[in-house]
Amino acid sequence: MGRTPTIGGNWKMHLDFEAAMTLASDLRNRLGSVRGVESIVFPSFPYLRPASQRLRESAIAVGAQDLHVEAQGAFTSGVSAEMIRSVGCTHVLIGHSERRSVFGDDDGLVSRKLSVALEADLIPVLCIGESLAEREAGQTFSVLERQLNSALRAHTTGAVARMILAYEPVWAIGTGLTATPEQAQEVHAWVRGHVSGLLGSEYAEQLRIQYGGSVKPSNAAGLLLQPDIDGALVGGASLNAESFAEIVRAAR
Ligand code: PGA
Repeated sequence: MGRTPTIGGNWKMHLDFEAAMTLASDLRNRLGSVRGVESIVFPSFPYLRPASQRLRESAIAVGAQDLHVEAQGAFTSGVSAEMIRSVGCTHVLIGHSERRSVFGDDDGLVSRKLSVALEADLIPVLCIGESLAEREAGQTFSVLERQLNSALRAHTTGAVARMILAYEPVWAIGTGLTATPEQAQEVHAWVRGHVSGLLGSEYAEQLRIQYGGSVKPSNAAGLLLQPDIDGALVGGASLNAESFAEIVRAAR
């Protein structure tokens, strides 16, 4: 069975409330009935509830950009998995490179966040990727191996059945530099092979792996044509309804 392409729009810490709601409504109009591609948007926490209301019964899912590992308690500013679920989210980003580099989420915390998301029945989008220094030092695969082993070793195939993986070379995020389709395909094939070693080939064959890093309408089709690229995680270009819609259409 083929893997349904999945396109995520990571809005990061952008847009005021009005602009975010306009974008959600605009996406609903453009993509609300698109079939054969899964679209997910990841607005900021305060916008999750109203965005999920606007996108209810559309083909667009809503996810959070992060979660806190604790269920409740004195964790000022923390947002729990259950809170995220209760406002209508189905997905959550785990281990985005900005969480890792700006907020200090290390491999251990990323693995715990993954467990918490799975226990709450949220679909995690687990993000992995190497920095420019790591790529230049020839460490791409060892970094990915470390990130994958740490996150996935603790989980059974049943637990991670619905997980989505996102490969985002950090040097391509927000920089305008994109991996070429061939560069990205090489890494995606390696990732699928490594996951196969950890969780079996049947699991690896159905796992969807998004590519992320300066994906835009002009480069999406070439990337999405690659056999092991099953979608995209889009930052900047997801803030504009037409460009996000074009990327979704390119995946169809
Ligand atoms: P970008 O961000 O598309 O702006 O490079 C991608 C991401 O961080 O998920």
